[in-house]
Amino acid sequence: MKLSAVAAGIAGLTGSALAQDSVPVTDAETGITFQAFNSADGVSYGIALPVNASAAGGYDIILQVTAPIEIGWAGIAWGGGMVYNPLSIVWPNGESVVASPRMAYGYYQPEIYEDGTLTLLKGSGANATHFKVTVLAQGFSSWTDFDGNVAHLDGSAQVRFAYAYSRTPVDDPASVESTFSIHDSVGRWVHDLAAARSAEFPKWVAENTLPSPPCGRRVVAREERHPVVPRLRDSGRRAGAAARA
Ligand code: HEM
Repeated sequence: MKLSAVAAGIAGLTGSALAQDSVPVTDAETGITFQAFNSADGVSYGIALPVNASAAGGYDIILQVTAPIEIGWAGIAWGGGMVYNPLSIVWPNGESVVASPRMAYGYYQPEIYEDGTLTLLKGSGANATHFKVTVLAQGFSSWTDFDGNVAHLDGSAQVRFAYAYSRTPVDDPASVESTFSIHDSVGRWVHDLAAARSAEFPKWVAENTLPSPPCGRRVVAREERHPVVPRLRDSGRRAGAAARA
């Protein structure tokens, strides 16, 4: 009896270890159904994809991050590790929020990721206990990896992502280009992207698109806003932009 209970426990553990870590959640504010991962630290990463998202990449993503207000910044690494894949970093800024596209070229401060844009949608803001960031992420499903090859996020598969967060606020919360300090914690999980796909994706984007700035606070990091010249990249490493265009 005891033994079989232990065996059942082990089987359960094995099952969950092999399974993916995301669950479907519908956000009441936007009406979007995300496939979401809830980290042990109370940060949630919800992802919604177009119905035809595939191993070919090149598709847009809706990302929703919800975090306790004590979190200074939180981020997702779309390629599952810190370096040479696009990162989406979010933080609170008063009652508003900021989403910053980044890429790290080493284990130091990530730079602005010029081939990606994060556009705030409805369902973004901060209150006394939490902040919530809902963004249309463009340029994050294809990128140039360390070897200069184009990598794609397989939207039809279960994919390994990484997260990181810090309790220390970023240095200049109002700026998408703000520097910030190293994470207090990092982790990995497996996200079911096939289950994140929906034919409602275009409707969700249309219904949750904010009016033009200043009200919409469109957060776009492009060359004209960010004069930093990527030091470690060569001109061949821009295929992500082409895939997006
Ligand atoms: C100022 C900013 C940052 C600094 C200084 C920093 C620095 C570091 C360092 C030193 C390591 C340990 C490397 C090792 O010895 O294995 C590391 C690991 C890691 N970092 Fe960061 N990091 C920063 C921002 C970020 C961000 C924004 C993310 C993702 C959103 C991230 C994700 C990770 C992950 C997932 C690891 C585990 C190892 C790996 O996957 O490569 N980091 N970081």
